[in-house]
Amino acid sequence: VGHIDDVQELRKARPAAIPERYVRDMAERPTLASTVPLSSSMHIPIIDLSKLVEGDEDQWRTEMVKLASSCEEWGFFQVINHGIDRSLLETIEKIAMEFFMLPLEEKQKYPMAPGTVQGYGQAFVFSEDQKLDWCNMLALGVEPHFIRNPKLWPTKPAKFSEILEMYSKDIRKLCQNLLRFIALSLDLKQEAFNKMFGVAVQAVRMNYYPPCSRPDLVLGLSPHSDGSALTVLQQGRGNSVGLQILKDKTWVPVQPVPDALVINIGDTLEVLTNGRYKSVEHRAVTHKEKDRLSIVTFYAPSYEIELGPLPELVDENNPCMYKRYNHGEYSHHYVTNKLQGKKTLDFAK
Ligand code: SIN
Ligand code: FE2
Repeated sequence: VGHIDDVQELRKARPAAIPERYVRDMAERPTLASTVPLSSSMHIPIIDLSKLVEGDEDQWRTEMVKLASSCEEWGFFQVINHGIDRSLLETIEKIAMEFFMLPLEEKQKYPMAPGTVQGYGQAFVFSEDQKLDWCNMLALGVEPHFIRNPKLWPTKPAKFSEILEMYSKDIRKLCQNLLRFIALSLDLKQEAFNKMFGVAVQAVRMNYYPPCSRPDLVLGLSPHSDGSALTVLQQGRGNSVGLQILKDKTWVPVQPVPDALVINIGDTLEVLTNGRYKSVEHRAVTHKEKDRLSIVTFYAPSYEIELGPLPELVDENNPCMYKRYNHGEYSHHYVTNKLQGKKTLDFAK
């Protein structure tokens, strides 16, 4: 097999067996026993942002309670009426897909350097015996400008940069808006997080999961929690269901809801809220016939910010659970380790 570390090429080559590097140990395989079936009515909560922005008092209160319980019990929710144009969501999906469909030689003009998460390639791989994810990835730093590596921004498809720029602006506004309501849901001042974050860091990751002949043996993306404060995830339309989150030791699939965006709490917000809002472990699985695309935005504080549990959320009943640390150091720690469930957060203990 020519390109063992590129799953689209691997898929095209149709090897008789899945290469060993992708075959998970028994305990890691996406077995059915610990996974909630797709037909189940167990769903992550849906938050209607318009009820928080312009709802009457009753609607506002009801939605706020839902927001707080989603963050406490699930660490995940889907947001509808989020204010981002459907056409923009469709356009970013289209150009992301077009990028992944380019010939390998074209995509390799933007190589991801080892130990970084920028460019096209395999992130979070640090040893020869580490299992590989059944996923091709394009990752880019977006804001502030100094984190960008313009050489890694694709020039094909033609409008890629322009569209990513527009999309990122809207997603940034959404994150700031959500952080206002999340702050209010904790009885904090509404600008508490936005002010503290400084000029927030924003990065995007596009994941493409080709079909896999043995979805029972591989993982699309290893279990992990996000290092961000908030993550916004757009799932491709008409794709397979692939994202699963760990709830009460069971993997729960996230059913795509039309036009909704999936939001999750990252490690940073778990620390700031002293563990009240949870950064939940999640993974992606693959499908025998269908491919899948996800476009993921990570929103986090500026690197120089020092973080720890907010004093307002620490008292005798809620002892301080995490130490103070520098967010830049945490980010570095995150990208220089393999994805490992929630273990990356041990840095803050
Ligand atoms: C992620 O956790 O970064 C992406 C998971 C997905 O593709 O849904
Ligand atoms: Fe994630």
